[in-house]
Amino acid sequence: MPENTIVRLNRVPDPGVLPADIFELATESMPDLRPGQMLVEIIYQTIDAGSRAMLDSSSGYVFTVKPGDRLPASASIGRVVSSRSDQYGEGALVRLFGGTRQRYQRIDPERCVGLQVLESDVVDPMHYLGILGITGFTAWLGITDICRPAPGETVLVSAAAGAVGSTAGQFAKALGARVVGIAGGARKCQYVRDQFGFDDCVDYQATDFSERLAQACPKGVNSYFENVGGAVQQAAFSLLCDFARVAMCGQVAQYSGGGEVPGANLMTAVNRQLEVRGFLAHTHYHRLPSFMAQVGQWYRQGRLIQSHNVVQGMENLHEAINSLVAGRNIGQQVHQLAAYP
Ligand SMILES: NC(=O)c1ccc[n+]([C@@H]2O[C@H](COP(=O)([O-])OP(=O)(O)OC[C@H]3O[C@@H](n4cnc5c(N)ncnc54)[C@H](OP(=O)(O)O)[C@@H]3O)[C@@H](O)[C@H]2O)c1
Repeated sequence: MPENTIVRLNRVPDPGVLPADIFELATESMPDLRPGQMLVEIIYQTIDAGSRAMLDSSSGYVFTVKPGDRLPASASIGRVVSSRSDQYGEGALVRLFGGTRQRYQRIDPERCVGLQVLESDVVDPMHYLGILGITGFTAWLGITDICRPAPGETVLVSAAAGAVGSTAGQFAKALGARVVGIAGGARKCQYVRDQFGFDDCVDYQATDFSERLAQACPKGVNSYFENVGGAVQQAAFSLLCDFARVAMCGQVAQYSGGGEVPGANLMTAVNRQLEVRGFLAHTHYHRLPSFMAQVGQWYRQGRLIQSHNVVQGMENLHEAINSLVAGRNIGQQVHQLAAYP
């Protein structure tokens, strides 16, 4: 009987880059299946900004993993290797939300969120992890619920070359907005404009970042999709129009340990009569059908694109996370655990 391999956190990491021994690969016996359940060999799992933030409670992230705990995963693609389910046969390729970082995952289809067989009409199976997955769902909630752009309005998106940001900007474009991104470095900014179709993108690492951002938003900003915090947030808030909407999606600048990073002076929220609203995608799963109805249509019309970066090898999870934190990813960061058929 083969064994399962699970990932556990060894200790709370120091701020910054994760060392190779921060995780332990532990073995345990393969889970037994009850009627209706199936065993899925995990092939791909998303790496999200939260994958780093959850390792250290000082990040203020919504979940914290303690030493000895298994590591949660947001979304996975895998192959059914044994099944006691009438719906999902052996060999089926499926996408699922939740679960943990391990080689084999026992799934109860009745209780698993986001479970879907990969269909042949999807251009790339990886899209089930990104634009059609939790990443896309997060971007859709922030854009359609909070930013609510009218055609021609200016929407500003931080971490615009990343998974959620690149997707949020494309959704705002699909709704007719003028979309400006913020990303790290000239190469990324060009990619955001040329590939993701943003109207403009400004490099926050440039010394004259604030001036360039103001030039890119000559009529101010009607809504801001916020992923970053810190200095980027300060610059963005200074451009917000009266009654602007701010979707507080995340604060990646404070996720790698070392405490909080100062953000905007919130007196702007008073003076500009802003609507500043945070949201957590996993509390809205009941709205996945509405998301798929709207985004699935844009997708079938060929209006959306996705990029991804893949880091291979179960033992390289720390590298997959470090790569995202260092901004080496464009689009969805993915960790590959097994060969895709
Ligand atoms: N609210 C929710 O339910 C929810 C769900 C999922 C994700 N999120 C949030 O969405 C945001 C994006 O997450 P993601 O998983 O899609 O990651 P991502 O944007 O693909 O990757 C993170 C990016 O952040 C940028 N970054 C890293 N450190 C930074 C810093 N100090 N200052 C400015 N930019 C920095 C890097 O790009 P550059 O090279 O451009 O710096 C990096 O590529 C995160 O804040 C995350 O917490 C929220």
